This record gives sequence, structure tokens and C-alpha cells, in this order.
Amino acid sequence: MSNELEHIAIIMDGNGRWAKKRNLPRSAGHKKGAETLQEIVKGASEMGIKYMTVYAFSTENWKRDKSEVDYLMDLLRHYLKSEFDEINKQGGRILFIGERNMLDDDIVAQMENIENKTSGNDKFTFIVALSYGSRAEILSAVKKVSSSVAKGDILVEDIDENLFSSMLYTRNIPDPDLVIRTSGEQRISNYLLWQLAYSELFFTKTLWPDFTVAELKEIINDFNSRERRYGKV
Ligand code: IPE
Ligand code: IPE
Ligand code: MG
Repeated sequence: MSNELEHIAIIMDGNGRWAKKRNLPRSAGHKKGAETLQEIVKGASEMGIKYMTVYAFSTENWKRDKSEVDYLMDLLRHYLKSEFDEINKQGGRILFIGERNMLDDDIVAQMENIENKTSGNDKFTFIVALSYGSRAEILSAVKKVSSSVAKGDILVEDIDENLFSSMLYTRNIPDPDLVIRTSGEQRISNYLLWQLAYSELFFTKTLWPDFTVAELKEIINDFNSRERRYGKV
């Protein structure tokens, strides 16, 4: 048996614990985690996966120590400057979802630059959830819909699932078929709450920096053996 697998969403968790096990600073875990991500994006696109969304930084992660947040932002700057070019060369389109107003201006400018540069690529789409929180995303969609109603552009009766989805950051992106969380935690942590309504969930104890393309393939095999019913019999 095989299920259609168009979109994989990943919660890349466990960088800090990976570093702690090695008596290294948390930053070392983030650095290794970013390298793992490059391998996984490459592997997934080679397998023909059309969409991959990764949770890189949540709205709640802003509450971490300033030194850790600063490190993560500098790591991101580095990736924005050079490494994302690799994805561009592989034919990937890059999109960012999240609260941009909380990010530094130079980072937002680089993000827009990369989105524009890769907008014509159609081999696969790589979506980075950055300063992302699903409740914030849903609230901002509610505000957009409400103001359209207030202006008289739409009627309350016009609000349906398609219209609402089109107000989310993920407009035009199909819902994830499979969501993977590493590090053994079994929770969603404010990730894609609307979009994951019928996704298959997979939790692995592997810490994100240790995650491999081989394990991704095993998870996809498990996904293929599942029966997706969508409420039907
Ligand atoms: C995930 O790893 C990366 C981010 C949330 C930025 P963590 O930093 O959460 O690692 P743990 O959960 O402390 O091990
Ligand atoms: C979720 O991981 C966010 C990212 C992976 C970026 P966290 O480590 O922040 O989640 P909690 O705190 O364990 O729920
Ligand atoms: Mg964590």
C-alpha cells in the first residue's frame, strides 16, 4: 500500500539535548542541526517530495536567553547569505512563514530577497517556519476576514474553509500529509494547528542533529502502511 505524500512537515527538536550529551554549549547543537537540515532537504527533494515545511524558530522561542536567540539569528544570517543558494541551485523555491515584524530588518530583507530569487523554481518548495506560531497565524487570519466583512467586501456567509485557508501564511500550500517530531517529545508546540487537521503524526526519539535520510525513509515506509480515512469508513 502507498499513500500520496506531497508535503512533509518537521518539528526539528532536540538540538540542546544533543549538545548537552556531549558537554557542548547549546549553540553547537544548533550548528549541527542546521547541517542536518541541509542533508534532509536534499534527500527529500531527491525522493520527489514536493513540499517540506520545517519549524526553525517559534514565537515562544523568543523567550529563550538573549545569547541563544542571538546565536540562532546569526546562524540564520549565515544561511540566508550563502547556504540557501544550494537549495536554489537544486531548483527549490524558498518561502518563510511567521511573524516577520519580530525579526531584525536585515534578516527580513534577506528573506524577501531569497523568496524573490527562488520564486520561479518549481522542483520543490521548502518552507521555513520562523518566528512562527500557529495561534498568531490564525488570529491574523481572523482579523483579515473580519476587516473584509466590516468593509463590506465579503458577507459572513462567504466565510468557508477555503476562504479562511487563503488568509493563512500557508495559502496555496497543500496541507501536510505527514508531520515528524524528533527528540521524543509528543506535542505540537503551536505548529500548523489548522493545517495538521488530518496529517499523520510520527514521533521519533532521535535528536534532530542525529536525524538521517535513512530514518526519513523508514518513517515514510511506516506512513505508507497507514490507512488514512478522513472520517470515512
Ligand atoms: C530545537 O532544539 C531548535 C529550536 C527550538 C530553535 P531545542 O533548542 O529545542 O533543543 P532541546 O529541546 O532543548 O533539546
Ligand atoms: C518547537 O520546539 C519549536 C521548534 C522546533 C523550532 P520547542 O523546543 O520550542 O518546543 P517545546 O518548548 O518543547 O514545546
Ligand atoms: Mg526543544
